[in-house]
This record gives sequence, structure tokens and C-alpha cells, in this order.
Amino acid sequence: MYTAWIEKAEILAQDFFKDDASGHDLFHTMRVRSQAVSIAQEEGADVLLCELAALLHDVSDEKFHHTQSSGKEYLQQWMIAQDIPPAERNKLNYIVESVSFKGGSGQVPETLEAGVVQDADRLDAIGAVGIARCFMYAGSHGSPMHDPEQRPRYNLTEQEYRDNSASAVTHFYEKLLTLKDTMNTPSGKKRAEKRHERLENFLDEFYSEWNGNS
Ligand code: ADP
Ligand code: NI
Repeated sequence: MYTAWIEKAEILAQDFFKDDASGHDLFHTMRVRSQAVSIAQEEGADVLLCELAALLHDVSDEKFHHTQSSGKEYLQQWMIAQDIPPAERNKLNYIVESVSFKGGSGQVPETLEAGVVQDADRLDAIGAVGIARCFMYAGSHGSPMHDPEQRPRYNLTEQEYRDNSASAVTHFYEKLLTLKDTMNTPSGKKRAEKRHERLENFLDEFYSEWNGNS
């Protein structure tokens, strides 16, 4: 059953994300999917469940719907239309709800599979791809790439996190550099450490060029 659902979820994601330029395009979902499969294999998690949840993880996000509950409802209706049984729907809902970052106030996942998919999603926000997404996001929201006067805000509420005044560089401090310490699985941690190093190297080089030192 899972392989048929995965094929359908792929079609849903292709359709759903076809016009997005804010960092949540189809390729984000596809990268999270391959990252989730690879981590699930290393961690001995349920690979097909992680793959399906990764494909669905952003479809119900409130960013793409009028309200949080209409996003949730959209995913429920889709799962029901695919004849996904209630027990599987519950597992998928739990994973999808665990994934969101929400300014750091999101929940710590209590199942291995939720931890795997959350790790996969967070990994996509750091490293080379994460840097690119961050600058894309800032550009698409009219934020500057860097404002030397701006100080990062910590312990943000979801609302503060969603107000898009932060520059791309400030976003490194408010979110990206904190992600490696929120990984759930050993494989996620290992991958996050490498990507974290890329963030730090990038910032060193960025400031050096910004200040005319190289
Ligand atoms: P999620 O729903 O996974 O928390 P977000 O919508 O917060 O994702 O972020 C999508 C992408 O845009 C991520 O790569 C994130 O790091 C980046 N991003 C979010 N907010 C900002 C911001 N204020 N400035 C730059 N990049 C941002
Ligand atoms: Ni995502």
C-alpha cells in the first residue's frame, strides 16, 4: 500500500508546490524525502512511513492555507481520498505536526520516524542549500541580505519569528546556527555538524569580504 500512496503523494507535491519561489518549492520536498529515506535507513526506522510523511510534510502548512485548521483538513481529505486507514493517518499526522520549526517553539518528536523527518527538514535549512534558501527567502520578502546594525532576537515567539524583518545574515543567528543542537537522531546530528561548519565558514568569508579584508 505504501508504495502506491507514495506515488500519489509525489503527484500531490508536484501539483501543490509548482509555483513556489519562497524556499518551499517542490525540490525542497524532494530533498527532504531523500534525506529522510537515507536517515531512516541508517537509523533502522520505518523507511516507507518516513518517505510518505516527508512528501506530505509541507502540504498542510498554514503558510499555504488560510488557517492552520484548513491546512490540516486539506491533508485529512487527501489521505481519506487515498483510502489511507485511520491508524496510518494518525502516524502521518503526528509526524507532519512535529516537523515545523515555529521559531523554536515546536514540539520534540516522540517517535523515531517523526524525529527522522524533522531532522531531514531541518538539515535542508543549513549547509550550502540552507544558505541559498535563506537568501532566497530574504529576497522574496524584501529583507536585506545584511544590516550591520541589526541584533539577533532570541527565544522568539512564533509570531515574532514569522515577522520577516530579519536580514538573511540575522536569520543565521536566530535560527540556522541553532539547528544542529536540535537534531533527534545520531545520523541527523552527524550531518548537521558538517553543514553547521559550512555556515560558520560562510559567515567568516562574508564578513571578511563585507569589511574589505579579502
Ligand atoms: P519551516 O516551516 O520549516 O519552519 P520556514 O518557512 O520558517 O520553514 O522557512 C523556510 C526557509 O526560509 C528556511 O530555509 C528558513 O531558514 C528560511 N527563512 C525563514 N525565515 C527567514 C528569514 N526571516 N530570513 C531568511 N530566511 C528565512
Ligand atoms: Ni519543509
